[in-house]
Amino acid sequence: MTLSRREFERIRSLARLHAGLDLREGKEGLVSARLGKKVRQGGFRNFQQYCDHVAADTTGKALAEMIDALTTNHTMFLREPAHFDFLRRIASAELRGPGPIRIWSAACSTGEEPYSIAICLLEELGPQAASRIRILASDISTRALQAAKDGIYAAERFEGFPAAWLPRYFLRGEGNWKGWYRVKPELRRMLEFRRINLMEPFTGLPSFDVVFCRNVMIYFDRPTREDVVRRITALIEPGGYLLTGHSESLLGGQHSLQYICPAVYRKPLEGGFCHRRLEGRLCVR
Ligand SMILES: C[S@@+](CC[C@H](N)C(=O)[O-])C[C@H]1O[C@@H](n2cnc3c(N)ncnc32)[C@H](O)[C@@H]1O
Repeated sequence: MTLSRREFERIRSLARLHAGLDLREGKEGLVSARLGKKVRQGGFRNFQQYCDHVAADTTGKALAEMIDALTTNHTMFLREPAHFDFLRRIASAELRGPGPIRIWSAACSTGEEPYSIAICLLEELGPQAASRIRILASDISTRALQAAKDGIYAAERFEGFPAAWLPRYFLRGEGNWKGWYRVKPELRRMLEFRRINLMEPFTGLPSFDVVFCRNVMIYFDRPTREDVVRRITALIEPGGYLLTGHSESLLGGQHSLQYICPAVYRKPLEGGFCHRRLEGRLCVR
């Protein structure tokens, strides 16, 4: 099924308006492949008719499904490991307690990122810290969020994951579930799941010590990226951190954060200096 220029432009503007996705020239093939299946399965004559259906659906379900199909959910446990080394360092140096530790995994996909965060914090602070740790795991994709909530992963998802951690944090499937692992309830309890579209105002969110917003802003254009960073920054505690994907440098962009090391930024205290004790010593690179 061919995707006309007009149809592409219409899908492009819907994706930009509702999810901030920047479907540039050259993405026609991706759009056609990802949405062609929906057009055929839904019995639509062409992309135009499918777009009419999406626009007319006042429940927002068709739009959410379209955005779901257009986004990439690729993720893995301990992805970009330097960030998890960094998290362990600040946990040990700055988050020992006794207060709550609040972390936001702002585009958590199928959950590997927030579970990795929980595991690293427990490894560093010990199991007694579990009650202090609250991790908000959010994504625009309801399909990805459901997988994150289920917390069931195939054995091959654990490549490179420390072998000793597997029985500590996951239950091994048996019978029909052989080859699968499920997150233990005590780990899952540390996470709260919510559908949050980064394009929309953040309502009812607390402030956070650390925000992981990784490998999602790459899909946004520059003004959208800057707006998202500005609104996330407002939710970060002074002295807290924003971690972006390593290909999402904020260098050259408008923001009020201090660069700490690649893809790690810190919100300064009022007055422009940081109270963190290990200033300049946290990064291994
Ligand atoms: C490539 S995954 C990144 C997952 C994880 N952060 C990581 O680095 O491994 C990108 C995720 O961003 C989500 N996403 C895309 N646009 C979004 C938006 N406007 N608001 C919230 N999440 C969005 C997608 O659904 C997808 O799960």
